[in-house]
Amino acid sequence: MIFKQVPVGSFQNFSYIIGDPKTHTATLVDPAWEVDKLLDLCTDAGLTVSHIINTHSHHDHVEGNDAVVKRTHAKVVAHQSSPVRKDIPVDDGDSIEVGSLRVRVLYTPGHCPDHICLLVDGKVLTGDTLFVGECGRTDLTGGDAGAMYDSLFNKLMSLNDSTEVYPGHDYGRKPSSTIREERSTNYTLKERTKEEFIKFMAQP
Ligand SMILES: [Fe+2]
Repeated sequence: MIFKQVPVGSFQNFSYIIGDPKTHTATLVDPAWEVDKLLDLCTDAGLTVSHIINTHSHHDHVEGNDAVVKRTHAKVVAHQSSPVRKDIPVDDGDSIEVGSLRVRVLYTPGHCPDHICLLVDGKVLTGDTLFVGECGRTDLTGGDAGAMYDSLFNKLMSLNDSTEVYPGHDYGRKPSSTIREERSTNYTLKERTKEEFIKFMAQP
């Protein structure tokens, strides 16, 4: 697998390129702010973009969709509840085939109602659900701390310890991590009941 984490824009966003070296196809995850840079990286790696996957519909993760579609005719994949213009609506447990690669969808609401995380080849792309050393905020429109608890503790923390974590923003001490590291060092993942977590998230 060809995998690139690409810093874009001025909000510390990460876009991702997931490429299949066998079929020379790629998916862009959360293309935004610097579409030329992303497409140039694909061209340099000999990859044609077949899909865009949005982890969620916030502007800083989707604002490059239209420009990419215009230039590549890629199909847009997003959660079925997402308001973005999409070709392939998905839900928990679905898989997206990118050439010979399989990207599995985990539905992880909490930061917003249409949030998904993506599992591929021992890596999880966590969007704005989990950052290195932090979790996503739940005080924006559609945010839900109870749903975030379930997404973090019942979905992400049930992944293998060795799974690599690739977040949607560069907010941590380093750009990526593992489930093992987050479980043991991320203060938002300390053992709490759901009620305690909801109170914790309501603190300033
Ligand atoms: Fe967001």
